[in-house]
Amino acid sequence: MTSTTIPSRNKMRIAQQFSRAANTYNSAADVQLDIAFDALTYLPSHYKNGLDIGCGTGRISQRLSNRCDRLVAMDLAFGMLQYAQQNEVVADPSICWLQGDADSLPLADDSVDMLFSSMVLQWADNQQKVMAEINRVMSSGATAILAIMCDGSFKQLNDSWLNIDSERHVNNFATAQSWCDAAKQQGLQVNMYEKQYVTWHQGIKPLLASIKSIGANVVLTSQNSTATNSTFSRSQSGFNRKKLQHLETYYQQQYAKNMQLPLTYQVCFLHCSK
Ligand SMILES: C[S@@+](CC[C@H](N)C(=O)[O-])C[C@H]1O[C@@H](n2cnc3c(N)ncnc32)[C@H](O)[C@@H]1O
Repeated sequence: MTSTTIPSRNKMRIAQQFSRAANTYNSAADVQLDIAFDALTYLPSHYKNGLDIGCGTGRISQRLSNRCDRLVAMDLAFGMLQYAQQNEVVADPSICWLQGDADSLPLADDSVDMLFSSMVLQWADNQQKVMAEINRVMSSGATAILAIMCDGSFKQLNDSWLNIDSERHVNNFATAQSWCDAAKQQGLQVNMYEKQYVTWHQGIKPLLASIKSIGANVVLTSQNSTATNSTFSRSQSGFNRKKLQHLETYYQQQYAKNMQLPLTYQVCFLHCSK
């Protein structure tokens, strides 16, 4: 496994949470699997050099490697890469596992003809920067399929928290249109599709646990200040059992159906060509 330097404190915190979740990720990440499978349907051909940005536990990388001669499976979280390598059903010599950051891809210009990323780029620092990097590593004629969590995601959770206190408990998600615009501004041709996915939970605790057990319980508070979501960390100020009860009551009153609480994932799929 190759490794590059992880740049900022924000990135280190994201990497740490996802690394910690590596062992629980696959059993908790059903909706992420559905989304990645939907993204794969936009990828019909066979390619020479592929890149999977934010490969996580490598579930999708193994499928992508069937469609490429060589695949770089990259992730910010070392723990995810370790899990991926240790749990490969059969060691695949066509996959190179690489630690790296989507905002600063450790690959040469014009080096991939297929780029795939599912449920990752919402963690990037900057839409323009990450799209410039994607464009830079794509060769002429290359295809990129990007599935990104966008505005509207976790809206029930965010609205419910807003009713409880004034702290930020849920990350802001950029709009689908702004992702599309950023890709176009960097010179890519883009077709965009949007789809909504809803998961259902028996209560607020399992709902919050579904986010924590995949490692996504990091709230980005400013460029260089990241906190574990106070929803999950009892040591954070402002969190207590009473607040959680209020949160659950409000969530149930506003959104429950058949005693189940919904959580929305709003996803944009960008089909990009260079
Ligand atoms: C929700 S998981 C998705 C994993 C996989 N793509 C899937 O669909 O199952 C998000 C992954 O993105 C990685 N990640 C987050 N920010 C990243 C960044 N800036 N560069 C590369 N990977 C990143 C995390 O470590 C995590 O493994």
